[in-house]
Amino acid sequence: MDITIESLRNEFNHELNTAHSSADLEQIKVKYLGKKGPLQNLMKSLRDVSPEERPEVGKQINLLKEEMEGALEASQTRFLSTEENAQLEREVIDVTLPGRRRFAGRKHIITQVLDEMIDILIEMGFSVQYGPDIDSDYYNFEALNFAPDHPARDMQDTFYLSTDMLLRTHTSNIQARIMEANRPPIRIIAPGKVYRNETITARSHVFFHQVEALYVDVNVTFADLLATMDQFVAKFFGREIETRYRPSYFPFVEPGMEVDISCLNCHKSGCYLCKHTGWLEIAGAGMVHPEVLKYGNIDPEVYTGFAWGMGVERLILLKHGVSDIRLFTENDMRFLTQFPEV
Ligand code: PHE
Repeated sequence: MDITIESLRNEFNHELNTAHSSADLEQIKVKYLGKKGPLQNLMKSLRDVSPEERPEVGKQINLLKEEMEGALEASQTRFLSTEENAQLEREVIDVTLPGRRRFAGRKHIITQVLDEMIDILIEMGFSVQYGPDIDSDYYNFEALNFAPDHPARDMQDTFYLSTDMLLRTHTSNIQARIMEANRPPIRIIAPGKVYRNETITARSHVFFHQVEALYVDVNVTFADLLATMDQFVAKFFGREIETRYRPSYFPFVEPGMEVDISCLNCHKSGCYLCKHTGWLEIAGAGMVHPEVLKYGNIDPEVYTGFAWGMGVERLILLKHGVSDIRLFTENDMRFLTQFPEV
């Protein structure tokens, strides 16, 4: 009996190993495990086995049966049906097709324009400095000649973090710091974010970007300020652009002014961008107030200086015809992808 079981096992394994298709497997299954197969015959012949040997032999036959079922099951994956083959055929990859373009990250339009402004101003002789976004009342207001109860503080709706600390309302917070730490000639720019507690609308936001400029030396004049500003604007827009200087008040400059440029969108005939005035304000500017020079330990009898704070978003609105400042912070890819890096 043992010999018969063993030779059946060998025969089965041999056939299984030489099968070529799932149809072959099916045949093997019917042949060995079917009702009239050799396993059933073996079972039947158990009758002829002595009662002592019967349980052991029966066990062997069952073992072989389980073995065959397991081996057939495991072999299924060796052969795919024609349908499965057809599916593979359909999914075949055409390696000659061009690849799908992946979207590569790029600089945000604000970063791009900041870089552009910085490059122009470096070329004009300025060096770059960065001030803290979180600053003290001293650097943001006091050292800029805002008296504690000065109504000008109300001009800037400030986010206070404590009685003394705040989110800077302008990049002018760099001025006293730079003057304390350096002797003239000082010729720096300071780009960065500024924060104001304002209602968010198409034209104002709780944070935006400025580029501060500060130039202190002997004989720095108002003419230097106008010429530097005009030259920057011409370089930035790539052509001569009309500028307009309006007297204005900031405690840290005297005289102070606001700088407008003619609206590029409507050529001064009036449109939504310029609120139908033909002009757009891009900066506050002026000659550094003698008191501010004193805060920076610089003798106002010897030195003079000019400063400006320029609005970055404003320049982008004009240069690219963006109508709503909120778009800059909404992360809408349809908007952002319109500004490829050049
Ligand atoms: N800091 C001013 C503002 O935020 C702008 C300014 C800077 C004005 C420097 C004069 C000189 O509006």
